[in-house]
This record gives sequence, C-alpha cells and structure tokens, in this order.
Amino acid sequence: MCGIIGYVGQRDVVPLVVEGLRRLEYRGYDSAGIAYFLEGKIQLKRSVGKLSSLEAILPRNPSDGVSGIGHTRWATHGKPSEDNAHPHRAGTLVMVHNGIIENYLSLKKKLKAAGRVFASETDSEVIIHLVDSFYQQGHSLEAAVQEAVKEMRGSYAICILSEDAPDELVAVRSGCPLVVGVGENEYFVASDIPAFLSHTRKVIYLEDGEIVLISKKGLEISDFKGARLLKERHKISWDPVMAEKGGYRHFMQKEIHEQPRAIIDTIRGHVAQEAGDVLLAGAEEIGDLMENCQRIVMIGCGTSWHAALVGKFLLEDIAQIRVEVDIASEFRYRNPHLSKGDWVIGVSQSGETADTLAAIKEAASKGVPTLAICNVVGSSLSRETDAVFYTHAGPEISVASTKAFTTQLTALALLAIYLGRKRGHLSEKDGKELIHQLLLLPKQIEEVLTHEDRVVEIAKRFFKYRDFLYLGRGILYPVALEGALKLKEISYIHAEGYPAGEMKHGPIALIDENMPVVVLALKDKVYEKMVSNVMEVKARGGVVIAFAEEGDTELGPLVDEIFFIPKVVPALSPILMTIPLQLLAYHISVSRGSDVDQPRNLAKSVTVE
Ligand code: AGP
Repeated sequence: MCGIIGYVGQRDVVPLVVEGLRRLEYRGYDSAGIAYFLEGKIQLKRSVGKLSSLEAILPRNPSDGVSGIGHTRWATHGKPSEDNAHPHRAGTLVMVHNGIIENYLSLKKKLKAAGRVFASETDSEVIIHLVDSFYQQGHSLEAAVQEAVKEMRGSYAICILSEDAPDELVAVRSGCPLVVGVGENEYFVASDIPAFLSHTRKVIYLEDGEIVLISKKGLEISDFKGARLLKERHKISWDPVMAEKGGYRHFMQKEIHEQPRAIIDTIRGHVAQEAGDVLLAGAEEIGDLMENCQRIVMIGCGTSWHAALVGKFLLEDIAQIRVEVDIASEFRYRNPHLSKGDWVIGVSQSGETADTLAAIKEAASKGVPTLAICNVVGSSLSRETDAVFYTHAGPEISVASTKAFTTQLTALALLAIYLGRKRGHLSEKDGKELIHQLLLLPKQIEEVLTHEDRVVEIAKRFFKYRDFLYLGRGILYPVALEGALKLKEISYIHAEGYPAGEMKHGPIALIDENMPVVVLALKDKVYEKMVSNVMEVKARGGVVIAFAEEGDTELGPLVDEIFFIPKVVPALSPILMTIPLQLLAYHISVSRGSDVDQPRNLAKSVTVE
C-alpha cells in the first residue's frame, strides 16, 4: 500500500524524505511525491513511476525549511498520474495519505458545492479540502484536522503541513499504520519503521484515533477529542542493516537465508527442552485462556492462509483440538457460526491486512476470544486481539513472504506442543522429541541452503515454461499451495497447487511436456501414492521435478529432476520442504528478469479490501 513520511527537524529535509520513501518501496507503488519549503513557500514535486523519476525533478539546492512530507502511491482511486500523485494541496495546506476514504464521493460533492475545485480523481484529495475548509474558518491546523476527521469514514494515515507554520506538522492515524520516530531534536512520522530506522531507534506506535502535533513545543499526541496522551517509547532492536539487503541481490534472497536465525529467534525463550514443555514466554495468557478451548478457527490471507492450513494438521494431530481454516475475506462475509469454547486465530505477517483485521473484528463481535500470530509488534492486529503470539522474523521487506511463513509454522508448532502437553494429549517423552526436532530445524535449513546451486540448475532448465502444477498430500498439500504462490507472484508464471489425490479428478487432463509437475514426496504413509502420481505424469509425457527425502533411492530414476531435503518428522516437514520451493521461485524469477522484491500489481501489506 501507499507509504508516507513526514519530517520536522534541523536537517535538509529533501534527502531525508526521499531516503525514507526508498525504505518504504516494498509497500508497492506506482507514483511518488514530496513537499518541502523553499523561501517560505511549499514546493510540490510529484512523478509517476519509481523514485528515480521523482529524484530527477528535484532541485539541487536544498530546502530552507525544517519540515517536509513524502508519499509513494499504490493506486486505489484514480489511475497512476502526476495529478493523482500525492502530496495534494488546498490553500496553504499540503497533505499525504495512506488508506481509503469510503465516503469521499459525498464529501467531494459537498465541498464542490461550497466552491472547492479538485485537481485529481483521488479519494484522498477530499481530506485536504475538508481540513482547509475548517482551517479557513480560523481553526488551528490541529483543530481543523480534529473537525475534519469527524466527517471522514474509512481508513487513513495522514501527514499535513501548512505554509503558515513551517515548523509544524500534524499527523493522524485511523485504520492504517503510522509510527513516530523520535530523534535528536528531530521527529519522523511514517507508515513503517524502516523509513527512519537509520536515524533513530526510538519509536512511538500510534493507535487508531490519535493525532500528532509536532511544533516548536516538541511532540504532542492527543485523541480525536483533543485529550493529550502519554505514549510509551519503544526501542527498536532491528539493526538498520537488517532492513538492508545484507549483500544479497534481493531482499527475498536475504530473507530466505535469514530463516535459520528467524526460527531460532521465534523459538527463543519458549522451550523447556528437558521437561518437553513449551513455555510460551511472554504469552502465558494464551495457554491459560486456551487450555479449555474446544475448537479453533484459523483465518488468514495468501501465505498466511497456507500457514493456517498447516496449523490445522499440527493442532489436530498434536493437541487433539478441532480446527477449521478459512480465508479471511470469506470468513468475514459468511456470518460464521461461533460458540462458547471457540477461539479464532488470525495469522498475519504485517498485522495490517484489512480482510484479516475485519475477520478478527467479526469474531470478537460474536464474543469469541481471539489470538494473533503476527510478526509486527504494535501492528493493528496485535492490538485487536486478546492475545498475541509474535513471530520474530524481523522486518520482511520483500513482497513475497518467506521467513514470515516458516516462523508462523514454528509458532504454530510451539502452540500445538504447548496445548498438547497442557491438555494431556502429548507425553513428556513425545514433547521432548518434538522440541528436539524443532531445535534441529535451523541447522537443517542451513544444510538445504548450501545446495542452492542445485536449485539454480533446475531453475535455469525450467524458467521459460508457462505453466506449473505443484502436488502434495496431507501436511504437504498447503506447502504445494505455497510453492505455487511463490512462483506465480514473483515470476508471473501460472502455477497451481493441488492435493495430489485430486490429480485424477481433473488436472491430469493438463499433463504434457509443457507443464512441469513439482512433486513433494516424503517417505511417509502416502509415499507410495505419490510415486503413483509420478508414474501417471510420466506415462503422459509429463515432466516431474521431485522434492524428496535424503536416502530415497526409488524416486530419482523415475523423475526428470530431484532435490533432497534432510530427514524430518512429518509435523515439521512443511518448514523444511518450503525452503527449496522458495529458492526455486526466486531463481526462476531472477532468470526471467522479473522485479523480485516488488512484483507488479502486488503490495507487501494489503491494507484495503
Ligand atoms: C505472500 O507471499 C503474499 N505477499 C501475500 O499472499 C501475503 O501473504 C498476504 O497478503 C497476507 O499478508 P499478511 O501475512 O501480512 O496478512
């Protein structure tokens, strides 16, 4: 989604704002813009395309002001164009916005009737005209914003400047992420922490319904009624380098290689290995609350939905709890039947996915306790739910989710072990063994990553194909879905994940030499069935790329390519099996010259429906 940044301080604002926008590129955008002061007037520069187009039209001479705002736009209302790019201006005010104003048409009609002239097709422009209409009545900028938000419906994170007060900035959060960075005699307001992390690690998380006023008096935060609020300052442990590429070609490759550390960090503090117990350190309330849970409904979108599908297998098998899984955008409109003893778990890397947030609110409205499995501290989802189990994958910049997925699976395994032990379905011995296997995973992932060149060979052989079919059974079926999603979203190749048992009910009609079939096969209770699937594909002239278990000598001679993963217990096999599929998608995308980290049409966090 859109990225916004505001700055008030002593330094030249233009390079700081542009740098901040560059750190927000991962949110996906099609145009960008900046507003800054020069000789007491606000300069507005906007351009379609990447930030390099904006930088090309920026002046060499620095601004003389102490404040500025910037924006990267992901179009929702109005095509990508300079007129539709932010910042938008009304009178002496300029503004940047992330979100959607749902009642913008009625507001626009009312403002036009009052003589206001609009320059764009966007919903956002109504905001600055609405604020200016109150500002012109003599309200302070902050008071004008307080009046305007009473009339706005929808989601918004906004930064506003006034030409009349160069050292003042007002920002407001309602339904879209916004954080404050507190520097030395300078302040940042942005959609996400990486925008200013190289300047300060002191962060204030804003809640919905809060307004920030930065002025000569410093920083003041209040609610929509004007009541001043005291907010906690958090120290971010993320090293700025973590948000850089760390020597890899793309954030995605870096984040694939970060998975061993991310899994260790997610496990850290949660296991008492000798007792075979999981502690849920910092999340004990989850255990107490969930101990008598009768059913779990898990919801998510995209990769997080795939994680929820794996979670079903883990929680049903290890903790003997009934689990249903639903796509968040389906759940929220299904009028779901929820009753006492139910728990709803929302799985989300960003914690800002609109459909997942809405589904959790729907569950909460029915009086059902909710849990978030989330990667971003202070995100909206983490504050909507009764309890949070944080993954600790660190910032995931690439649009394609990798380390967030495997740490979600890790968190779900920990939760399943905890509940299995707590509810007496998992013996101490079995608990110890599962925890032992969990602690082996980071090393096993490192082992898989040392064979990345093998995946590169496979990618180079198949990157020109137009269609792929991914087949898996049981707990590996969601991994087939995830492998297919990875490929399609970063290489633009049509790829379908399918339960292998379903091939004979339709997809087998597609089999020929032009559609490689990726087969996930462990030496488990359905191994023979997977071998049969391979034979069915080969008998029809198909091409098979198998991902199998070390020591498997049967599958190799039957297939066209094979990649081996270390032996792993079935419950944890999705975590390990996903790694080579991420690498395959990545290297096929690189071979095709796609924009790996910011694939077309996609955003890292879909904060609108
Ligand atoms: C995954 O690679 C995609 N980028 C996308 O499906 C993503 O998983 C989905 O939008 C959910 O995002 P969330 O985990 O932040 O809620």
